[in-house]
Amino acid sequence: MLSLSPTIALLLALFTVVSYAVHPVEVRGQDFVNTVTDKRLMIIGVDYQPGGQSGYNPEAKSDALSNGTVCLRDAALLQRLGVNTIRVYNVDPTVNHDECASIFNAVGIYMIIDVNSPLGGESIDRSNPASSYHVGYLGRIFGVVENFKEYPNTLAFFAANEVMNDVGTSEKNPPYIRAVQRDLKNYIKKHSKRTIPVGYSAADVRPILKDTWSYFQCAIDGKDDQSRSDFFGLNSYSWCGEDATYKSAGYDILVSMFQNSTLPVFFSEYGCNKPSGIPRVFNEVSALYGKDMTSLSGGLVYEYSQEESDYGLVQINSNTTITLRKDYDNLQSQYNKLDIKLIESTNSTAEEIKPPKCDEDMIESDGFSKNFTIPDPPEGAEDLINDGIDNPKVGKIVQIKETAVPMPAYGSTGQEITNLAIKPLPNDESNTPNGETTSPSGTGSPAAPSPSKKGDAGRVEVASAWGVLVAGLLMLRIWF
Ligand SMILES: *[C@@H]1O[C@H](CO)[C@@H](O)[C@H](O)[C@H]1NC(C)=O
Ligand SMILES: *[C@@H]1O[C@H](CO)[C@@H](O)[C@H](O)[C@H]1NC(C)=O
Ligand SMILES: *[C@@H]1O[C@H](CO)[C@@H](O)[C@H](O)[C@H]1NC(C)=O
Ligand SMILES: *[C@@H]1O[C@H](CO)[C@@H](O)[C@H](O)[C@H]1NC(C)=O
Ligand SMILES: *[C@@H]1O[C@H](CO)[C@@H](O)[C@H](O)[C@H]1NC(C)=O
Repeated sequence: MLSLSPTIALLLALFTVVSYAVHPVEVRGQDFVNTVTDKRLMIIGVDYQPGGQSGYNPEAKSDALSNGTVCLRDAALLQRLGVNTIRVYNVDPTVNHDECASIFNAVGIYMIIDVNSPLGGESIDRSNPASSYHVGYLGRIFGVVENFKEYPNTLAFFAANEVMNDVGTSEKNPPYIRAVQRDLKNYIKKHSKRTIPVGYSAADVRPILKDTWSYFQCAIDGKDDQSRSDFFGLNSYSWCGEDATYKSAGYDILVSMFQNSTLPVFFSEYGCNKPSGIPRVFNEVSALYGKDMTSLSGGLVYEYSQEESDYGLVQINSNTTITLRKDYDNLQSQYNKLDIKLIESTNSTAEEIKPPKCDEDMIESDGFSKNFTIPDPPEGAEDLINDGIDNPKVGKIVQIKETAVPMPAYGSTGQEITNLAIKPLPNDESNTPNGETTSPSGTGSPAAPSPSKKGDAGRVEVASAWGVLVAGLLMLRIWF
């Protein structure tokens, strides 16, 4: 290695770039901040669960991040769309996610991972939280931490999603969610090299929304309070249709509710699909990322693929090809209008906000829990947190083998998108909208045949910097 030629040295430098395309993010005050550049990370995101809930199948060892070919296809389309974050709802902690995580990492896309699943014993049961809070459950969610803690693009974990979905469920559940957050954060502290934020994703149930946020953001006095949320996600569907406005959708109310938040707040789901049957226009995007809403940290559009609930940006065809829906085009053109400079500027005063002390008086509605005595960890949990789980499957970033997407993808008019590939980003960048329109314009008549799909090396665009980089990687693989 002493007599490296300049060319090889350059290639090695480029090689390093590919392996670590994003810098970890941490919470500072109201903001997510890139730990190296100190720029704010405003979440420009999409919820990602191809196949819906049944995409998670432990028997088949499959989930949304288990198949690298599928992730390559989807990462290429999400990168071109302009997103910097995906949320993944159900993952199997015994499955290898290295390829998918590495692909999303290379294109500057962070992952927010839910630690739970809809299967029995894998989440808190809102009708009986005490019975579902046991060491077996904790073993599963700690497994998810082990699995994802080493990926630099793991942005955060959701400890729970919409457990409180009405006033009734807000009586008993809140202390248990704080308990789960505490256990996750203690596990991360003990077993992860870096802090990874943990928070809650709330349903937009107005009678309890403010209380939910108040309950999770406050600090319990007198101890090292690990049970506090690091951020707050809101699943928000109040902006519907072309004529909605900042006021009619009640965004002004949300902004004043969260204006003094001591933790980041963002939409963990948004994108109302009413009126139904027509493509969404996503006018809320310019509001969410505009001047009036800089106190929020952006949001994730529900959802990437068309499933039964009818929220898809793309249609995944049975032959594994993809057809973009008009919703994708519309969202992309909204993202292309964003002022990324405004979005990335940090509010330096934000660091100084201290969380309020938990107090019964901050809870306004009658039904909501005023109990800030958090349940002790269940039997066996302390050992599990101290010693770590048995046989953890710890993920790691791997080299990406292919950049070209092997299966065809079609624009919203039916024409094939040619040369679809991921473009690995240089060091420390997260992905941003790039002004392009991915759907080819046209009438849907078949496009001229694209260059041969065979022979991936032949598809590299040598004229571009990325072509050089990829060629370099291929050469490295031959030399070492
Ligand atoms: C990954 O997905 C592709 C496309 O659906 C499929 O052809 C392939 O068999 C899958 N690979 C594995 C290991 O399941
Ligand atoms: C937020 O803080 C400002 C300044 O301290 C205060 O005037 C305002 O009333 C607070 N807003 C809410 C909703 O508490
Ligand atoms: C795959 O299926 C889609 C939708 O049915 C169709 O439009 C497309 O032609 C098919 N592509 C291939 C390569 O079979
Ligand atoms: C910065 O934070 C302060 C305190 O929360 C807030 O009053 C102000 O509006 C914020 N400025 C921006 C640009 O977000
Ligand atoms: C508050 O919760 C704790 C455990 O989390 C429980 O032991 C206690 O009885 C609860 N207090 C009330 C008043 O419900």
